[in-house]
Amino acid sequence: MTPYTILTYPDIRLFHESKNVLDNEFDDSLKMIIDRLFITMRVHEGIGLAAPQVNIHKRIIVIAFDNHNLTLINPVIIEKSSDIDGIVEGCLSVPNVSGYVERSKDIKIRYRNLDGSYSELKATGLLAICIQHEIDHLNGVIYINRMSNIRKIILLKKYKRLSNKE
Ligand code: CO
Repeated sequence: MTPYTILTYPDIRLFHESKNVLDNEFDDSLKMIIDRLFITMRVHEGIGLAAPQVNIHKRIIVIAFDNHNLTLINPVIIEKSSDIDGIVEGCLSVPNVSGYVERSKDIKIRYRNLDGSYSELKATGLLAICIQHEIDHLNGVIYINRMSNIRKIILLKKYKRLSNKE
């Protein structure tokens, strides 16, 4: 199974809103997409990947790091803390750069599994940040849109310079 090609910023397709996976779409082809998302994420050494990053505009996320190994289908944030946590984030769709973003420290999500069943999950720390970053992708939002203006300008300058070198 070959990895997908990852869309990179500022590809307009990264800014589309993705659609929910429908009841009749929980089948083998969904499983194939998810397996291929995991392979793509591993090849690029990412910790999370959302389907729209590979031009599949469905609400599917895969996450794997430390002891976490998650497939989130149609994830929805149902609770989030007002406490904020900030780290320097990176994204496979914005290679070679990283930037500081603030997000809710603790979240609770509801999502569907590959068999169509529903689960809920409480997350904190890096997992909470990663889930919020990936759900943003499903809504056509890239982390740099959450950076302060000055940080964003500096990042984009650097990104442009490094992209032109490739
Ligand atoms: Co990303």
